[in-house]
Amino acid sequence: MEKNFLVTGGAGFIGTNLTKQLLQEGNKVIIVDDLSAGDHRDRLPEEAVFYKIDIRDTAALTEVAKGVDVIIHLAALPRVQFSIQHPQETHDVNVNGTLSVLEAARAAGVSRVVYAASSSAYGDQETLPLSLDLLPKPKSPYALQKYFGEELLRLWSSVYGLETVSLRFFNVYGPYMDPDGAYALVIGRFLKLAKEGAPLTITGDGEQTRDFTHVSDVVNALQKAALSSEVGNGEVFNVGAGGETSINDLAALIGGKVEYVTARLEPKRTMADISETKRCLGWEPQVTLPDGIRALKQEAGLL
Ligand SMILES: NC(=O)c1ccc[n+]([C@@H]2O[C@H](COP(=O)([O-])OP(=O)(O)OC[C@H]3O[C@@H](n4cnc5c(N)ncnc54)[C@H](O)[C@@H]3O)[C@@H](O)[C@H]2O)c1
Repeated sequence: MEKNFLVTGGAGFIGTNLTKQLLQEGNKVIIVDDLSAGDHRDRLPEEAVFYKIDIRDTAALTEVAKGVDVIIHLAALPRVQFSIQHPQETHDVNVNGTLSVLEAARAAGVSRVVYAASSSAYGDQETLPLSLDLLPKPKSPYALQKYFGEELLRLWSSVYGLETVSLRFFNVYGPYMDPDGAYALVIGRFLKLAKEGAPLTITGDGEQTRDFTHVSDVVNALQKAALSSEVGNGEVFNVGAGGETSINDLAALIGGKVEYVTARLEPKRTMADISETKRCLGWEPQVTLPDGIRALKQEAGLL
């Protein structure tokens, strides 16, 4: 059944992919974005209604959320290293912004809020895969802020009866990734460097691992979390491909020369335990990393 969605951060990387899919399936979509990550309005589908609003403006958000069934809350300042340099600014958007979204949802009578949480909440753990019963150990302001958001959602469900679900995304990649800037995600940055014929810059020894997850699988999980009648009580789920790839192996997959640069503050290994996501949401990742990278290389003219 078609629904009315409001997507915060809908002009961003994951938001653009999500909006297109929701519209394709006959839903109505309102996008709220302050365009702080870049003015990507040209790539937004015409059928979507766009509002340039800062999510911290609760009154404005409440007004546009009237009549909406589900808010998918993606808006954030989402970079680890940026949060280390700008802890207050990122806290304000990532924590107070999330609080504002929840309050607007309540005031507007929205049924459910689905939140883009982050695998970074885990930090470094003794065991892999990263399962939901592990105590989060955030290693950066960003990781802590995203974890705080989950707790807000959990509480808004139990205290105010708002339906909420949080999905911890693991290193998302795919079309519309931001390839620029010092904070760009690794796959986008590597593809850009490969296209320029420049060496791929690897931080540290490159043996750190990540669970790279294709954006189409993330979009699918968001839709299931938005619609499933089995969830809505503040649950948290991992959304990862369930594999572990080192940055060295990723560089080999993309191809070209590599260059090692100074290590930075980041978790050593991540790999999602997705058993609960499969069981409760009936979700399963579909795109393997080699297939996802091949498609991006083709798109970038590297194949
Ligand atoms: N990309 C990943 O690998 C990944 C991993 C884990 C979690 N996440 C989470 O997923 C979400 C989306 O990530 P993304 O990669 O698409 O990021 P993105 O930067 O491409 O998109 C975020 C969007 O939010 C908007 N925004 C920022 N501050 C805002 C504000 N105050 N008001 C309104 N809009 C604002 C930006 O303009 C941008 O369009 C984020 O919450 C992020 O923390 C992403």
